Amino acid sequence: MKIVNGLIDIHSHILPGFDDGPEDIEQSIEAARRYKDIGVDCVVATPHRIGGTRWSPSPSAVIAAAEKTEAALNDAGVSLRILPGMEIAYPENGDEDFLSTQFLSLGHSGYFLIEFPFTSAITDIIRNVTSRAPGKKKPGIIAAHPERCSLFQDDGATLRQAVAGGMLAQVNIDSLFGGFGAKAAQAAFDFLRQGLVHFLATDSHARGNRMPPDPKQWERLIGLLGREAVETACMINPGRMLRGEKVAPIILPDETIRNMQPPGHHGNIMERLINIFNK
Ligand SMILES: [Fe+2]
Repeated sequence: MKIVNGLIDIHSHILPGFDDGPEDIEQSIEAARRYKDIGVDCVVATPHRIGGTRWSPSPSAVIAAAEKTEAALNDAGVSLRILPGMEIAYPENGDEDFLSTQFLSLGHSGYFLIEFPFTSAITDIIRNVTSRAPGKKKPGIIAAHPERCSLFQDDGATLRQAVAGGMLAQVNIDSLFGGFGAKAAQAAFDFLRQGLVHFLATDSHARGNRMPPDPKQWERLIGLLGREAVETACMINPGRMLRGEKVAPIILPDETIRNMQPPGHHGNIMERLINIFNK
């Protein structure tokens, strides 16, 4: 794989015409320009892959579209590496062999981005993806935005156990700013505090309010977590993953953890009273 120097977004709907991402190449180019503005040099294209629906692209179609999109961006003067991948919706009754040849790992790394059901019981599924017969190589599993799945939200132990079993976790940047509601924001902060998060990604859909972050939003992220943590989450760990290496969770300094507050959090009643008197 060609080495890139900048940030890497491992979850992005940037290929036109595949899913609810960009409708045409113009929207892809607009998103690509936003990426370059914040220093992203490489994006893993992850169109939805939901079995039994019209969103079931073949690996070869995604690979061809990634190459075509990268070339079109280049022609438009935007130099952005596009690697092929998929956001794979895990079938609720899936068995451990579901990661067959019909799925693409992220940039051919051997790590699969899995979107777990938002609501249903997933304990068995997680056991399936994190356990293998002795001698059988485990596929790398990255949970897409677990902070948005209610069972990860409702029981903190679920993600903890899955990560202990070898699963990696990718949190959406917008979750930290309340873009997916208070519950997802709270869960995202809790997971970060507990050292259960390996990647931050945009999950950009290249349109509407789901564009890649602009420089102001990016600075806000750095202000929240610190530059080092953001580089780990968006450059070092993605690079390790794409090379098929082991990836460690993001560990935030104690001071950062103490200062982190989800959006809309105004402190306990005593803090609020103190704030009122200080105004
Ligand atoms: Fe996505």
